[in-house]
Amino acid sequence: MSLIKVHDREFVPFISEATIQHKIKDLAEQISKDYQGKRPLFVAILNGSFIFASDLFKQLEIEAEICFIKLASYKGTKSTGHVVTAIGLDTDITDRHVVILEDIIDTGKTLYEFLPQITNQRPASVRIAVLLHKPEATKYQFPIDYTCFTIPNKFVLGYGLDYDGLGRNIREIYQLHES
Ligand code: IMP
Ligand code: MG
Repeated sequence: MSLIKVHDREFVPFISEATIQHKIKDLAEQISKDYQGKRPLFVAILNGSFIFASDLFKQLEIEAEICFIKLASYKGTKSTGHVVTAIGLDTDITDRHVVILEDIIDTGKTLYEFLPQITNQRPASVRIAVLLHKPEATKYQFPIDYTCFTIPNKFVLGYGLDYDGLGRNIREIYQLHES
């Protein structure tokens, strides 16, 4: 692993493939214990979480279902983006044990605005599992039940996360190189 260039920026290795996979296996074991016999429904948020969701789901040792939604944050002339649902939920979540899967919590705005869409439908329970959390950047507070990595407030890419569309297929997580 070494320095890479994506679009106009340089990135340095941050979390190795082995470390990510190890953490995801631990998380899958924990969730398998916590949801034994509950047949949880995983709701993965596209695009960023698709690789995390796939790797985690493969490691589960219990009966479980998964579905996908797509949220997009559009930035107009204002500095704050507004979160819209680009592909909605097509599964009945009433009385289900829901686990939301998200790639990263940065400001927290995306999930904060989306959560009522889940809780309004009276699921039996809702928990949130994230690959990455940047607590220094988080302005919208809500409980995060499972976190793989707590990271500093620096832009990252790889393992599903992109920089302007590119970098999602990189197997490690890279961090913006500030020279
Ligand atoms: P929020 O600020 O918590 O609403 O994060 C919104 C979305 O921005 C996340 O779901 C990611 O898709 C994206 N995002 C936030 N931080 C990063 C980053 O460091 N790298 C790549 N995408 C990010
Ligand atoms: Mg995302």
